[in-house]
Amino acid sequence: MKSRSRKRATPRGGAARSEKLWGARFTQGADPTAERFTGSLAFDRRLWPHDVVGSVAWAKALAKAGLLSPSERDTIVKGLEAVRSELAAGTFPFRAELEDIHTNVERRLQELVGDVGGKLHTGRSRNDQIALDERLYLREVVARVRAGLRGVQAALVARAAETVEAPLPGYTHLQRAQPIVLAHHLLAYVFMLQRDRERFGDCGARADALPLGAAALAGTAFPIDLEALAKDLGFAAVSPNSLDAVSDRDALLEFLAAAAIAGMHFSRLAADLTLWATAEFGFVEFSDAFATGSSIMPQKKNPDVAELVRGKSGRLYGNLVSVLTAMKGLPLAYNSDMQEDKEPLFDSVDTLDAILAVLPPMLASLVFRTDRMRRAAAENFATATDLADYLVRKGVPFRQAHAIVGRVVRFCETEGKPLDGLGLVALRRFSPLFDDDAKDAVTVEASLRARAVTGGTAPDAVRRSLALARTLIARP
Ligand code: ARG
Repeated sequence: MKSRSRKRATPRGGAARSEKLWGARFTQGADPTAERFTGSLAFDRRLWPHDVVGSVAWAKALAKAGLLSPSERDTIVKGLEAVRSELAAGTFPFRAELEDIHTNVERRLQELVGDVGGKLHTGRSRNDQIALDERLYLREVVARVRAGLRGVQAALVARAAETVEAPLPGYTHLQRAQPIVLAHHLLAYVFMLQRDRERFGDCGARADALPLGAAALAGTAFPIDLEALAKDLGFAAVSPNSLDAVSDRDALLEFLAAAAIAGMHFSRLAADLTLWATAEFGFVEFSDAFATGSSIMPQKKNPDVAELVRGKSGRLYGNLVSVLTAMKGLPLAYNSDMQEDKEPLFDSVDTLDAILAVLPPMLASLVFRTDRMRRAAAENFATATDLADYLVRKGVPFRQAHAIVGRVVRFCETEGKPLDGLGLVALRRFSPLFDDDAKDAVTVEASLRARAVTGGTAPDAVRRSLALARTLIARP
């Protein structure tokens, strides 16, 4: 029974042997489990626009090299246009047994134009074909992600513009540290996202070499004008090494790395907001439109959107590690392991698209409780550094000033008083250099105003940063 079924050309309903691209060399068809296991159509079908673009360009290059007559070229190009229309209209007859998007497109072309369609794959391999498709796809996705990042930056800048004078406590070690203004906190994320935008741009630039012409691994044996083909497909150069061209996934990895870093930034922003939304902080309220309730606790309002933005950083990291690990230790050149690059890539793209869509409206709808922030900014001796700086301006070495104010804080704590609640007589017991103006130095506003350096939190400095942020996001 077993041996009989093994002899069948098409065991248990798999594709006929003759339908495989390599069928002639095989006597037996693929086992359906093997076919399902190796097939990639379920996910690589999203590459179809790029697969067709690459094939049209290749057909033209073949004709230029005299490998297709002008009329053969026209037939193939027209056929590919028809395939493209079917794919765009959703009427393309996908056949999972034909393994991948490349084979599906090529087979459909042959069905539509006949045997001449079989000339398209001259001098080309699916190895350089997939490398090309991925680079074209990355180019498109990088542009979209960069525009999406800009949208988030614009939403943050809009909220920053409203809050240049709104104090809140800044934290280190999640302990109240020094007063800052809310715009300063929001702009920190704008500048992070600017670096993300640059990183995505870099990875696009690195993918700017044509891999087509590498064929399977050693370079095509036909005299194709690759420089012209590169130009035709919008690449700056031709890949200088065919082995590298078919086995290089660096640009894809750089994209995943940039996505992981951006995901970490989004996660930190979401973590700040979920913390601020607690009753303990009470600095922000999420709009109902970006929150959910509890199935059991009627009073609950949960910041689900922000929580999931934070949580999705996990898969963005995982996708990077997954492809790095799949690539590690692969002997040159192409190996099927590399097919495992696609699902993580597409998952990161989909995850970024989703985050970039939801963040701008969510940020726009936040209600900042600036009254509570203002109150918190003045508590917990947040301006103690300013009192030490006051003594420094009178010539006290900072270390000594730090120690003096440390004793002041300890005293205030036992007395249950704020820093500006001590009279001058009490203050002078710690240093004779304290004068009447000491209490002016420890107001929140004075503390903010003092930090006027570039990048500081003084409202004037923040206004300059805001202007810079605006010029950055004006550029695509
Ligand atoms: N599906 C393959 C991939 O994603 C395309 C290249 C296949 N080449 C091959 N000889 N099996 O990497």
